[in-house]
Amino acid sequence: MPFYPDGVLDEIRNSVNIVSLISEFVALRKRGKNWVARCPFHTEKTPSFNVSEEKQIFMCFGCQVGGDIFKFIMQIEHLTFPESVRFIAERYGIPLPARPDPPEGDHGLPTDTLRKAMAAAAEEYHRLLTQAPEGAGALDYLEGRGVSAETMRRFQLGYSPDNGHFLLEHLQSRGFRLDALLECGLVKRSEDGMRHYDAFRGRIMFPITDIRGRVIAFGGRALGDHQPKYLNSPESRLYNKSRNLFGLSHSRQGIQRADCAILVEGYMDFIIPFQYGIENLVASLGTSLTAQQVKLLGRYTREVIVSYDPDSAGQAATQRSLELFLEEDFRVRVFPLPEGQDPDAFIRRVGAEKYRERLGKSVSYLDFVFENAVRSQGNLDNPKSKIQIINSVLPYLARVPHAVERSEYVFRFARRLRIEDQQLLAEVKRAAKNRKLELRRESLPQAGAMRLAEKRLLQLVVGNRELQRQFLPLCSAGDFEGLAAERIFGFLLDEFAAGREVDFDALHRRFAAEPEQAMLAQLQMEEVPEGHTEETAQRSLDALRTMRLELRKQQISTRIAEAERIRDDEMLNRLFRERVLVDRELVSLSRG
Ligand code: UTP
Ligand code: MN
Repeated sequence: MPFYPDGVLDEIRNSVNIVSLISEFVALRKRGKNWVARCPFHTEKTPSFNVSEEKQIFMCFGCQVGGDIFKFIMQIEHLTFPESVRFIAERYGIPLPARPDPPEGDHGLPTDTLRKAMAAAAEEYHRLLTQAPEGAGALDYLEGRGVSAETMRRFQLGYSPDNGHFLLEHLQSRGFRLDALLECGLVKRSEDGMRHYDAFRGRIMFPITDIRGRVIAFGGRALGDHQPKYLNSPESRLYNKSRNLFGLSHSRQGIQRADCAILVEGYMDFIIPFQYGIENLVASLGTSLTAQQVKLLGRYTREVIVSYDPDSAGQAATQRSLELFLEEDFRVRVFPLPEGQDPDAFIRRVGAEKYRERLGKSVSYLDFVFENAVRSQGNLDNPKSKIQIINSVLPYLARVPHAVERSEYVFRFARRLRIEDQQLLAEVKRAAKNRKLELRRESLPQAGAMRLAEKRLLQLVVGNRELQRQFLPLCSAGDFEGLAAERIFGFLLDEFAAGREVDFDALHRRFAAEPEQAMLAQLQMEEVPEGHTEETAQRSLDALRTMRLELRKQQISTRIAEAERIRDDEMLNRLFRERVLVDRELVSLSRG
């Protein structure tokens, strides 16, 4: 999230023409509707750098860098996002608010009141869990998952009763005003505005604290199979999702002591290993990691072990986190969890000692990227796939600062790929020579990573209220999992659910200074063939679904082989049933 309010950013966007701004750095020539030049971000003979005056964006089709005015200044001047805002504002004489954060005084209620309400809620939830009959079921559940009383106390775990008005009444009787409870997301208003009710009902409560240990939000886990599994507090004046890491107030000392942090995904993946004495954890809570979260962690250490789920979504999230960590000069390793286990399940099964042992076997991010590339190519005998694998590690390899370390990797990869060392070495040398350039390359996910179906769908739906209304209700977040534009689709769905239409401007605001900007620019730059309709959109969605299902099927097959090997009949049955379901879905898709 940008530091400056949207209004300020919009004002700058409206008063600065991207063509004149970029002209100060690059000699642009008019070609058709656009302006073109040789790209300032990579070496090229023929111009593939485009600027659209109409859309106020730039995009290089050679190196996939693209975005708006802020992005351009960030890239060319090597600035952070807020610095680029300041840079442009100064140059064009646009006044900025003195403090980038919105001033607290704007709001009716003192922030302290909100904090007190959150603290009181956490206390009451905790009392209910540990001492009241209402909490007995939740207590049973947590004990069943191996959570000790000490851990419940330390993390102030709680239980929210399901009658819908318990907390509201409790806090009102303690003198908290309704507007405070609404503002911190503890209480909600019904749609007709007539009733108010507790936001969390019948859930196990995980307080989310800031770095000083003050409660700023909650995550609530359903007790049974209720959906959603986790409900989280909305963002508020206290809680900025992208700037907090779960558990850091508990673990920062442990992190400093170990000079290394273990990054996990979920509440339980933090709490259970912590109980086992692993005290240098942080959790990103299932949302994609942000640059601010990485900066925050960077205050305590520059070494991280990423320990996300071993499923494909977790591995994709791992890959995405690398860029962010490397950007902040972290040393990154990846924890190799066995298939089907998250950190919580794993440590309960093997204990702390084995967990530590496994931790020591964490692989470097380069090995991780390499093995991923190998897996996605599948076939190692084909020279073309070898080249592809090399190409996917080269940009990372070029970032390794020490020549000796670099050549060690080269040696290892070459052997693994059964390539003449000389050949690969030559490739790497070239990358090393262009190191600066590679470093400036657009971070992952790249625009080029978008699949055609994905692109078409976005091009059709963004800015088209009619199609959004017909189409988005048919999609679920799961349809886009693991895709390059996953977060863009996620935003579309969220906004749609909130009743807001999404156009490219809204997307640029949301993804200011994020890798998605390059994709947006590419989507806008390309001409969409005419004659596209609802049906084309439907076909694109089907194509995406089919692709994901095929992928899922492959994964199931791999796991079937593994289950056969270890003779796990129960697992086998489950996998077969799952495969039948996937097949059924594939058939129904192909019938349209
Ligand atoms: P998981 O589904 O892996 O849950 O989501 P978990 O943490 O392992 O929880 P248990 O073990 O089933 O109890 C990982 C994290 O993603 C977020 C939560 O932060 C969760 O801990 N999440 C997940 C949500 O916010 N909402 C959801 O519906 C699901
Ligand atoms: Mn879990």
